[in-house]
Amino acid sequence: MTDIKIGILGGSGLYDMPDLEDRQEHQLSTPYGVPSDSLVSGRIQGIPVVFLARHGRGHRLLPGEVPYQANIYAMKQLGVRYLISFSAVGSLSEEIAPLDMVLPDQYIDMTRQRPNSFFGAGAVAHVALSQPVCPALTSLLADAVQQLPGEEAVKLHQHKTYICIEGPQFSTQAESHWYRSLGAGIIGMTNMPEARLAREAQIAYASLGMVTDYDCWHPKEPHVSADYAISNLLKNAQRAEKIALTAIRLLAQTWPESIAHRALASGLVTPLEAM
Ligand code: ADE
Repeated sequence: MTDIKIGILGGSGLYDMPDLEDRQEHQLSTPYGVPSDSLVSGRIQGIPVVFLARHGRGHRLLPGEVPYQANIYAMKQLGVRYLISFSAVGSLSEEIAPLDMVLPDQYIDMTRQRPNSFFGAGAVAHVALSQPVCPALTSLLADAVQQLPGEEAVKLHQHKTYICIEGPQFSTQAESHWYRSLGAGIIGMTNMPEARLAREAQIAYASLGMVTDYDCWHPKEPHVSADYAISNLLKNAQRAEKIALTAIRLLAQTWPESIAHRALASGLVTPLEAM
């Protein structure tokens, strides 16, 4: 079990990885509760991988109901050191169009009611989050997107800021304009506290946003609705699996060093022996 190094978190539209061979389901329970669904481990091109549908298969969980702590804890339990997260996002910028893909490297966290740390209750740590995603894993994910065959090529945007809202409602127009003024390029409901918790768990984390809509700031484009977002999302879900397969192959060629792997070396305040 402990040789699983790569975790894939599937968002809306990506509920399984059909290419996973020698599949094994893990119904785990953690000190933080039960994960969103069973984790499915297996091999892709011989490389051990574990997959988890963030909203549960059948999409049963609101973004605010996702047990982020249990999900990351379960990935860690299975030995995951690199975690690739897929999610649907809205665009807050003219140049980022629906069906484009985006690699965020910064976050603004507007979530309000989600447990966002593994620490507390006598154990104190403040991990650094100035670079909230792993640069090495993100750059490898960019290579994977750019290796999509010509007929499936997508426009990729890098170094964008993802603003994470609590939801489940989409934003008001006033909020959407405000988020744009803050410099956010994309908007979603799930990457926080996922990225924070991955860092505390010393797991390298990278996120690929699949753009479904222009939120509700754009004077000429439809305002986002669930129907509209889902129809665009399904168009990108197959590409997402291909990107994951390429990223897995590239990752297993290099197993890059990550800033995340030593996050607690400088973040722990309570000495380990006291925990
Ligand atoms: N996910 C997809 N589109 C979104 C939007 N406009 N706002 C928040 N989350 C989203």
